[in-house]
Amino acid sequence: MDSEASNDSIYCQKLTNAEFAQIQDYIQKNCGIRLPVTKKNMVEGRLRRRLKTLGMGSYSEYLSMVFEGEDHLAEQEKLSLIDVITTNKTDFFREPKHFSYMNDVLLPQLEAEGAGTKRCLNVWSSACSTGEEPYTIAMVLAEYFGVDGDFRVFASDISYSVLERAINGVYTEEKAQDIPLSLKKKYLMRSKSRNGLVRFKPEIREKVTFGRLNLMDNNYNLPVIMDMTFCRNVIIYFDTETQQNIINKICRYIMPGGNLFLGHSESVHGMNLPLEVIVPTIFRRK
Ligand SMILES: C[S@@+](CC[C@H](N)C(=O)[O-])C[C@H]1O[C@@H](n2cnc3c(N)ncnc32)[C@H](O)[C@@H]1O
Repeated sequence: MDSEASNDSIYCQKLTNAEFAQIQDYIQKNCGIRLPVTKKNMVEGRLRRRLKTLGMGSYSEYLSMVFEGEDHLAEQEKLSLIDVITTNKTDFFREPKHFSYMNDVLLPQLEAEGAGTKRCLNVWSSACSTGEEPYTIAMVLAEYFGVDGDFRVFASDISYSVLERAINGVYTEEKAQDIPLSLKKKYLMRSKSRNGLVRFKPEIREKVTFGRLNLMDNNYNLPVIMDMTFCRNVIIYFDTETQQNIINKICRYIMPGGNLFLGHSESVHGMNLPLEVIVPTIFRRK
């Protein structure tokens, strides 16, 4: 019988409730992400692919390796488990009103104070996924100040695998369709092998510094205080207490008068934060 079809193959197995609870607990404590029972099938499916890659035959074998192993491999695999569980959906110019507001209202104010010309303007993309958000920010800033303008984009994420892709700055032409043609012509180059891939030019890639940062950490150790921070489409996965803790920590790294952007379906209503709303999902640091 084909091994994929045999009864004890990974294709026929289900995560037990206890195994799912172990994953829920680890992910919530370490990444802040809540995994309701409705996500059990999703977790099962994603883990199944991981087990296949590792050549392992059962969830229980995998989970004892991850949670009972005390070696380097167990630590490495915990990071891969986080990679497997996180949802990384993102797009260039996602929620485009944020970038229009940034360009039309916030950048003129900052420029008037000398940011981008007399001093460095710093922006942080705090859950940057595969890089579409920080490169969008870099293009908006390059359009406003010129690519040699005095600005930097810091971009971080908990997942190493998305960061690796972001650092490369290579995307399919289909993905890059969300970038206006005039910007594509200026800031992207076609792959020499014409394989349907495009890459950001070095002058844009050099403006973005990537690093791993877990928003659950006590201290973020960022090198500068930001003029603007994007924390979009990530706190939606956290419970309210975690959301409030994280936004408070993020605020320590935003200048008074600086700005925070949240995703359009995220709310901080009723939380005790040093922020005032300017327009829905865009805030000013008090
Ligand atoms: C849905 S993507 C959002 C990407 C981008 N901000 C956007 O709005 O298009 C969410 C990202 O948050 C990251 N993430 C989840 N938990 C995190 C944590 N505790 N610290 C840092 N990043 C986290 C995930 O790895 C994922 O790349």
